Amino acid sequence: MRYLITGHTGFKGAWLTLWLTSQGHEVCGLALDPEPGSLFETADIGELCAMDVRGDIRDASIVATSLKDASPDVVLHLAAQPLVPESYRRPRWTMETNVMGTLNLLEAVGGQASIQALVVVTTDKVYRNVSQREGYTESDALGGNDPYSASKAMADILTHSWATSFGGPPTAIARAGNVIGGGDISQDRLIPDLVKSLRKDEAPRLRYPDAVRPWQHVLDCLGGYIALADALVTGTVDGAAGDAWNFGPDVDSFVTVGEVASRASRYWGASGSWGGVGGEVLHEAGLLALDSTKAQLTLGWHNKLSFDNALAWTLDWYKAFHTGASARELTRQQISDFSRFASSGVST
Ligand SMILES: NC(=O)c1ccc[n+]([C@@H]2O[C@H](COP(=O)([O-])OP(=O)(O)OC[C@H]3O[C@@H](n4cnc5c(N)ncnc54)[C@H](O)[C@@H]3O)[C@@H](O)[C@H]2O)c1
Repeated sequence: MRYLITGHTGFKGAWLTLWLTSQGHEVCGLALDPEPGSLFETADIGELCAMDVRGDIRDASIVATSLKDASPDVVLHLAAQPLVPESYRRPRWTMETNVMGTLNLLEAVGGQASIQALVVVTTDKVYRNVSQREGYTESDALGGNDPYSASKAMADILTHSWATSFGGPPTAIARAGNVIGGGDISQDRLIPDLVKSLRKDEAPRLRYPDAVRPWQHVLDCLGGYIALADALVTGTVDGAAGDAWNFGPDVDSFVTVGEVASRASRYWGASGSWGGVGGEVLHEAGLLALDSTKAQLTLGWHNKLSFDNALAWTLDWYKAFHTGASARELTRQQISDFSRFASSGVST
């Protein structure tokens, strides 16, 4: 199969490109340049791509040309400004990228007959947060108080409306939450911040130590995206209406930020403590749990890694990388280990 991944230079995109190419698929990418020191760079992912376009999805002509040149079977749309704090600093950029960029993609995809499946990646933050204890299901109302959540809710509604109004290839929306894994260098994300402190032997300073968040390994989340795309291609699920699918973590992974920091410190061999509140504190949505029953029953998808294992795999990755291991080999090895769990049905 030939895939076009938008956002292939980002954290999830780099893992996804390595995963799909290691299965023998061809991957084309469209994204901005990678951040210095990103997984894309350190694992030299560009070299694996059949086509590696650096362009801005806010520009409709770049998106249309890239789609035409790539001529993919499957499009996975991940490119976005994905950070809540950054969305307060750059609301226009966030809206233009996440909403108009998605519109540009939908228009371009519609003009290309070769495409058998389109998966648009949004987030758990699209749900209108009414602080309910039970998980949100796909039919719950959307909303979003901060600019990032609102932009993703708009992209989500736009995708559904576009598929319903104009047809096009089988389309689906994938909603997942916070993911962790080796190689994330984003600012304002817990694990990269923790690793930075642990490497310096400093107590991490946390912005929201009491906030409960669901945590999921990036491979569990990406496994959902791939399963969804496969199901659209084979017609196992109906992609006519651009329906949404939740891919959330299991309940054992609902852990406070402070607890993640303590477990990470212990696992790293540090003191196990963390420092006071630090950094810029902006409004972020409280706990959002996803009910993923639909994906479990229809796609046979489920999380393979428990929270403790997801954290251990992540820290193992960083430890090995910072003691000289190859980013590409480390990532490839974890993908291979994960695929073995997946095929043998072993959950850890
Ligand atoms: N990482 C998470 O915890 C998480 C949680 C929920 C949803 N998501 C979603 O998953 C997707 C990928 O997130 P990530 O963590 O890999 O983010 P990332 O920041 O690591 O990567 C973002 C990618 O989008 C590209 N991009 C950004 N603006 C662009 C533009 N204007 N034109 C072209 N490309 C542009 C970047 O170049 C990069 O390749 C996003 O849609 C994000 O909203 C991520």
